[in-house]
Amino acid sequence: MAPEMTKVHPLIVRIAHWLNALAVLIMITSGWKIYNADPQFDFKFPDEVALGGWLAGALQWHFAAMWLFVLNGIVYVTYGILFGHFRRKLLPISPLAVLRDVAAALRGKLGHDDLTVYNAAQRAAYLALILLLIVLVLTGLVLWKPVQFYWFGQFLGDYEGARLLHFFAMAGVGFIVVVHIIMVALVPRTFPSMFTGRVRRSA
Ligand code: HEM
Repeated sequence: MAPEMTKVHPLIVRIAHWLNALAVLIMITSGWKIYNADPQFDFKFPDEVALGGWLAGALQWHFAAMWLFVLNGIVYVTYGILFGHFRRKLLPISPLAVLRDVAAALRGKLGHDDLTVYNAAQRAAYLALILLLIVLVLTGLVLWKPVQFYWFGQFLGDYEGARLLHFFAMAGVGFIVVVHIIMVALVPRTFPSMFTGRVRRSA
């Protein structure tokens, strides 16, 4: 039978995905440089992987990428909710199914035959990423405009609480993105689909 191509990723999701990947990369690496100027913990990030050259340069990168990240995120989340993309691709999800699929993935036994459907481990990872990225924006607002968002900061443990949450959300995003990239490397035929939007259904 001739290979049949089937659509998996709408154009808007593909564009948003790659713009988001670029924005997140800039925001995380410039965030490391900002952190290095006043570390909260007993370590610094290596200067080779921290973007911006110095504190003011890193802040400029961080704030520039912030606009791309937030505007792109608004388009993606609005599309995801209004056009049923999240409901179709990321739901339903149950803790049991996530545990089962994560255990199967760790044993190298998670099937990837049908790339049109995300497994429960993927759904959990993508939902967690989206939620963590929203936490980064909300805590970031308190750090960016502490006076204007003072009222909101009170719910997050004030400026220092927001700063800690911002750091841990960054660490969570960093961890999931590393696992995400390893999974893409293990199932490489998913990679071109994030550009073309299509996968081969049957060979
Ligand atoms: C840097 C931050 C990144 C974030 C936050 C992120 C997040 C996501 C999310 C949320 C999805 C699901 C999209 C949807 O259907 O709505 C996704 C899918 C995907 N991402 Fe990423 N991603 C990132 C980086 C990357 C990178 C660097 C690669 C390539 C190595 C990559 C490759 C893919 C692929 C191939 C899929 C589709 C998976 C499939 O169809 O099974 N992503 N990503």
